[in-house]
This record gives sequence, structure tokens and C-alpha cells, in this order.
Amino acid sequence: MTDEPVKFLLAERDIPTQWVNLLVDLPGGPLPPLHPGTLEPAGPPDLTPIFPMALIEQEVSGEPDIDIPEEVREAYKLWRPTPLIRARRLERELDTPAHIYYKYEGVSPAGSHKPNTAVPQAYENARAGIKRLATETGAGQWGSSLAFACSLFGLECEVFMVGSSYDQKPYRRSMMQTWGATVHRSPSTLTESGRAQQAHPTGSLGIAISEAVEVAAAREDTNYALGSVLNHVLLHQTVIGQEAMAQMEMAGEQPDVVVACVGGGSNFGGLAFPFVRQVLRGQAKMRFVAAEPTACPTLTRGAYRYDFGDTAGLTPLMPMYTLGHDFVPAPVHAGGLRYHGDAPMVCGLVHAGLVEARAYRQNETFAAAVRFARSEGIIPAPEPAHAIRAVIEEAEAAREAGEARVILFGLCGHGHFDLSAYDAYLAGELQDPEFSEQEMDEALARLPQTPAIA
Ligand SMILES: Cc1ncc(COP(=O)(O)O)c(C=O)c1O
Repeated sequence: MTDEPVKFLLAERDIPTQWVNLLVDLPGGPLPPLHPGTLEPAGPPDLTPIFPMALIEQEVSGEPDIDIPEEVREAYKLWRPTPLIRARRLERELDTPAHIYYKYEGVSPAGSHKPNTAVPQAYENARAGIKRLATETGAGQWGSSLAFACSLFGLECEVFMVGSSYDQKPYRRSMMQTWGATVHRSPSTLTESGRAQQAHPTGSLGIAISEAVEVAAAREDTNYALGSVLNHVLLHQTVIGQEAMAQMEMAGEQPDVVVACVGGGSNFGGLAFPFVRQVLRGQAKMRFVAAEPTACPTLTRGAYRYDFGDTAGLTPLMPMYTLGHDFVPAPVHAGGLRYHGDAPMVCGLVHAGLVEARAYRQNETFAAAVRFARSEGIIPAPEPAHAIRAVIEEAEAAREAGEARVILFGLCGHGHFDLSAYDAYLAGELQDPEFSEQEMDEALARLPQTPAIA
């Protein structure tokens, strides 16, 4: 056995004590969300019908670092700190001088990074006296994470699951039910928003969000929880990047490039923001790459505009790269990346040129995932497979340049519930849907009339 380390492990006492709030360091400062009715800037009181005040305060906080409650750190101990792994076998397979590291979040109970925010959200809602949380889920990762977190704090959980994922991933539903949640196929006939969308049986995250927000707004004892996009969600995920930073120090290296997939932006923000802060403060130099599907190319082809977070237009409007709130993406297997917009914080960084976005087709993404599985062993979820595709490009570029570049990427979930997608890929049956110019033009024509963003 060589003495070359593969895993870089921290102790439970090394679980971060604070979250990193990048809002404070963002170039240009934050743009306010707009009220869906008046299109005027929305403030904390507009959010109280569906969120507890503690999370609203985190959403708009001007503090650069926010303490993590001890109860949350205690729950994090169930799976955190997560390992950082040097992908030595993938490096050999790619014949690259690059050093490739991945932060593996698939060790959480739900199998992805999503419990990092589900736990503090359930905790703060329980503390505020809320009895029930309603949410949407795409790939099923977020719904199962919230179901798990609700079970820790004695809350009921009601999940609207995007129709195409509900059909593709029946065991995600079983998982949620095992943790005690109620699961509905979206669009459902239980809500007005769902009934209005019966013509789109595959559903979308935007439709499922409308259903969950409608349920939460209608009941005093029920709040809504979102698995991505919002500032406080990305904030909670920064435990990933802070741990990775300490682990890269253990490895004696500093990333040249940080890569992660983007659906709503929480895994990307979670891994990248602590490093982005170093760059914004002039303490380090590095590149950031966001990977997304060509079937839902928000960052690479979307318009930078104010848009609703959901299909029915119930949520505040946020400044983001959007394909239009009523856009229903093709039912690709990376269900977690089928969202029409992205986190305003991530969009702001793309707009400022600090983050480069790239889009990949479904087949090339699965080819990368299989190559990874056959060298590193872990079968990735289809979402981070997009990041792996980008990492392979980076590693090949390092080989061409003859440089030992250091690449860090987020392996934000395993693919154990996505094996039907692997079956389809291995049988040569996967489609490569593209987003057409006509779809973009039609979506832009339906965007709400709001001021352009500078
Ligand atoms: C494994 C996995 N990765 C990525 C995502 C995309 O979300 P985000 O961009 O917020 O990380 C999801 C969403 O469900 C997911 O399940």
C-alpha cells in the first residue's frame, strides 16, 4: 500500500460553528425581491405568511457570518463532516496531471447535500410553533431531506413531487413515507395551481412550488420550505465549502478551479461561496464553473430579469437568469436541475463574470458519470454528473497545458435511486432534448413587465 492519502477527514468538533453569508460581500450589493401583487420591493413582512422570522432574518442578514444553533450542529453530527476525496483513480483514467478532489455529500441520510438546509429549516419552524411544512421536490432529494428533518423535530411534512420524477423514482416516495411524510404527484388536483396545470402531466418544479406555497399560505399551522434558490438556503449549505477549505489545507493544496452543478444553486453556492469570499476579498485567485443541462439552460441562455419563483406567480419576483416561470423543461433524468431560474446570488456572480456557466447534454453527462463510477466506485446522481462532465473537460485542458491544476468539485449526491436513468443510458435509449430559440422567445414574451436589471 502506498502512503498517498485518498480521504481527508475532519472530526465532529470540526463541524463549522457559523454559516458564511456572502450577501455582504457580493459585488454591487443585493437586489430586493419584488412583491408578486404590487411589483414593489418586498420586505420581511411579505414573507411572514410562509416563513418563520428566524429564517427571514437570515434571508436578509447584513452579518458576514451567522451562528449555527447547537441543536442543528448536533443533528449535523449524524453525517457531517463529510469526506473530501482525492480522485486518484479518475486522474489515472484521464491520464491528467491535474489533482482532482471531490467533496462527497452522498453520505447524508437522504443521500445528498439537501439535509444541510432541511435541518435548520425544520428546526426554526418547530421553534416558531409551526406544526406542518409543505414543499415541492424535483428529483426527490429535497422532499426526502425535508421528510427526514421533519421527523427529527416532530413536524408533519407534505410533499408535492414533480410528476416525471414521481414516475421515474418510486423509491424516493417510499423513503419520504418511511420518514412519515405525505407525498402527492404534481400537478395534483388538490390545489388550484395544480388543477390549472393538468395539461402538463410531467409537471415542473415551478408548478410543484405553486402547489406547496398555496397549501402553506392557506393554513396558520403550516409553513413552506424551499430546497434551493433563496439566500438562507445557500447560507446553510456553506458548511460544505468551509469543511472543504479545511480539508484542502490538510491536503496541502488550494483549488485552481471549483466546479459544481446548478439547479437552483444551493450545492454550487454551498461549496463555492466560502472560496468566492476569499476571491472577493483579494485573499485568493481561483475560477468557478457552474454546470447545467442543455434541456434547462438557465445560466447559459436565460434572460437576466426579475421573474416569479413559481409557475402560478404566487412567490415574490427575484432577479435571476430565467427561462420564464411557466417554462416546463423536458423530463430529463437530472430532475433537480429542471428549474426555470436560479438563486439570485449565483446569478449575480455569473452576471459579474466571477462564475462561468456551461451546459451539457444528457448522454455526454451520463458517459462522464459512468466513467467516474468505473474509476472511483461511487455512482453519482444525474445532477452532479454534469459537474463531472465539466471536471473531465478541465482535467483534459490541464493535460494539454501540461499543468498540475487543482480541481475541486461537489459530488452532491449518489445515484442509487436513479438507476432507471442509468438503465436507459446503458441501453442507448436516452434522449438529448435541447431548448429551442422559439421556446426562449415565447417565454420572454410572457415575462412580467418589470424594470431591466443593470
Ligand atoms: C443531488 C442533487 N444535486 C443538485 C440538485 C440541484 O439543486 P441545487 O442547485 O440547489 O443544488 C438537486 C436538487 O434536487 C439534487 O437532488
